[in-house]
Amino acid sequence: MNDFNERAKNWDTNSKIERSNTIAKSIKNNIKLDKNMSILDFGCGTGLLIFPLIKEVKTVHGIDLAPNMLDVLKEKGKNHKNLTTELKGIYEITETFDLIMSSMVMHHIEDINKLAKKLYDSLNLGGIIAIADLMKEDGSFHDSLDGIYALGFSNELLKKIFKGVGFKEIKVVENIFIIEKKKKKYPLFLLIAKR
Ligand SMILES: C[S@@+](CC[C@H](N)C(=O)[O-])C[C@H]1O[C@@H](n2cnc3c(N)ncnc32)[C@H](O)[C@@H]1O
Repeated sequence: MNDFNERAKNWDTNSKIERSNTIAKSIKNNIKLDKNMSILDFGCGTGLLIFPLIKEVKTVHGIDLAPNMLDVLKEKGKNHKNLTTELKGIYEITETFDLIMSSMVMHHIEDINKLAKKLYDSLNLGGIIAIADLMKEDGSFHDSLDGIYALGFSNELLKKIFKGVGFKEIKVVENIFIIEKKKKKYPLFLLIAKR
């Protein structure tokens, strides 16, 4: 994860801001946000997914394993009284939330069965997950596969795993955004499911 520490200062490019804003829009189109809601963003990075949503909910807690990412987030978010951050991984979470979201993190997590179970256990009853990541790709998205545990995810696999740990009303919205790089197109999905 050291790589993310090194990239933190230059993380917020126009293309990543556009990507996160589009994911946030897709979350809002699929989930009714309200002022009583607590959100956890795991692998929040510099908070690109947090800022388009934070005014619509009660609290947002951002966690990440890279301290430099969190430093950038804390600086950008210092005027948001309802934002808290913590240097920790998803498995260290002990509280529960109404909405757990993440963007481009799941392919960095080794065992998504274990992750799905942890997310289920970290939701309040009726709580929802909103996870954006790469659809199946050919392995060319990352320059190095160090720390990459999945070459994107298929709709079928996501439904099987998240249903298997108890999630209901599972929906995979495909092609919510297309990342274009190396003359290739890498579409993203948004997985939504309810406890
Ligand atoms: C590709 S970046 C995405 C950052 C941000 N979500 C965004 O879309 O701009 C992945 C982030 O996930 C974090 N991360 C990886 N594994 C994690 C874990 N198990 N728990 C929490 N954060 C994790 C990394 O440190 C990194 O900041």
